[in-house]
Amino acid sequence: MAKVIKGGTIVAADRTYKADVLIEGEKIAEIGEGLKAEETIDAEGCYVIPGGIDPHVHMEMPFMGTFSAENFHSGTMAAASGGTTTIIDFCIPAPDGSMLEAWDQWVAKSHDRAVVDYAWHMCVTGWSERIFDEMQEVVKRGVNTFKHFMAYKGALMVDDDEMFASFSRCAQLGALPLVHAENGDIVAALQQKLMAEGNNGPEAHAYSRPPEVEGEAANRAIMIADAAGCPVYIVHVSCEQAHEAIRRARQKGQRVYGEPLAQHLILDESEYQNKSWDHAAQRVMSPPFRSKAHQDGLWAGLAAGSLQVVATDHCAFTTEQKRMGMGDFTKIPNGTAGLEDRLSVLWTYGVEPGRITMEEFVAVTSTNIARILNLYPRKGAIMVGADADICVWDPKAAKTISAATQKSIIDYNVFEGVKVSATARCTLSRGEVVWSAGANAQPAPGRGRFVKREPFTPVSTSLAKWKELTAPRKVIRDIANMPAGV
Ligand code: URP
Ligand code: ZN
Ligand code: ZN
Ligand code: ZN
Repeated sequence: MAKVIKGGTIVAADRTYKADVLIEGEKIAEIGEGLKAEETIDAEGCYVIPGGIDPHVHMEMPFMGTFSAENFHSGTMAAASGGTTTIIDFCIPAPDGSMLEAWDQWVAKSHDRAVVDYAWHMCVTGWSERIFDEMQEVVKRGVNTFKHFMAYKGALMVDDDEMFASFSRCAQLGALPLVHAENGDIVAALQQKLMAEGNNGPEAHAYSRPPEVEGEAANRAIMIADAAGCPVYIVHVSCEQAHEAIRRARQKGQRVYGEPLAQHLILDESEYQNKSWDHAAQRVMSPPFRSKAHQDGLWAGLAAGSLQVVATDHCAFTTEQKRMGMGDFTKIPNGTAGLEDRLSVLWTYGVEPGRITMEEFVAVTSTNIARILNLYPRKGAIMVGADADICVWDPKAAKTISAATQKSIIDYNVFEGVKVSATARCTLSRGEVVWSAGANAQPAPGRGRFVKREPFTPVSTSLAKWKELTAPRKVIRDIANMPAGV
């Protein structure tokens, strides 16, 4: 049955205009005024925006001796209620394990649970001939992004030589490397020092990961990408030092992308000084929350375009799980949630005070992500032929964020008590209403589909051409100009 979203104002990354949207099956069939269909979705007083894409989430992530608590069902329900229609997880091979085995595990935990569409990035956690070979198969299967952790020494961390090898492989395959930029050696050393000094509370987590540690790693990752001849995407950019590295590289012509998180834009380092151990531990994530000055820098980057996307790194651990680190902050599982609240908090703290425009809001929550990760225009656009992944966004539907009313299955919310001014009235995923305020949409678990992403041939082709043109060349000298004996 065809549907029409009627009476709303479409906000796209490039313009805002009044129009109805006609949906036939899973696709947008027509955009214009006075459209009619069997079913009408009322968007009077609302904005009609492309469904959010969260490019960085972790469902049931095996990490720090446990698994993040959110699963593909609860996580995608949470996403839908907040206006997000696509999530991108991280597929993580077991130690020395195969990418293809990890692939099967991720299929098993997602395919019959997800209610909105999803994809994943593949993690490179070491280097071997098998990994080199499997990367090609991964790209063939529709994953064109490979994640590298420069932190988590002794677990997920990779060295510079491994990153260079993997980035070079990405360049060959037309894939995009992603990087968690923190100097893992220095973090490990600072952790030991702090613990030895008796600094064992959650606040020490932040002390062990100062902004310089992130900035250094971001610079290093960018240098390695340049040497390997590929673009690079820095995840969870939390501070000015990392932002500065990205800005500088972009000015020099490198394709470097930066992803701040909703949490870092709104919450600050004072959270770790809270007298409640649980409160502080619940906010332990890497990189940690920073000062207000860093937040101002991140907002400025989103407005200026030096940072392009906003994610959440949704990695939800219960209070019970966080308590694994009582007496030793290095054992607190790292991660915070935010998937459900990303659009609302970004609107309230970004659009409302005029830090970013509505169009920039759409760009950083959806369109830019789709373009950078090669999902565009199937996702990230209100356009004829695109998937009907749409959020009817109500700028007058305020609420106070609370764990008591959230969809996420964890027992707290890092944004508890935050008043947001706008929320999703209705969320459609490929034409189906998967969330509707005040109604009880029950999307079938497993209706969400894995979204394949092709390699980035245009970028990698021109980069390869340019690198070949500017490659170091041996100087050919005739014998007369050579010293004797050479
Ligand atoms: O603390 C975090 N960010 N946990 C999730 C894993 C990661 O580093 O992205
Ligand atoms: Zn090495
Ligand atoms: Zn990370
Ligand atoms: Zn993450």
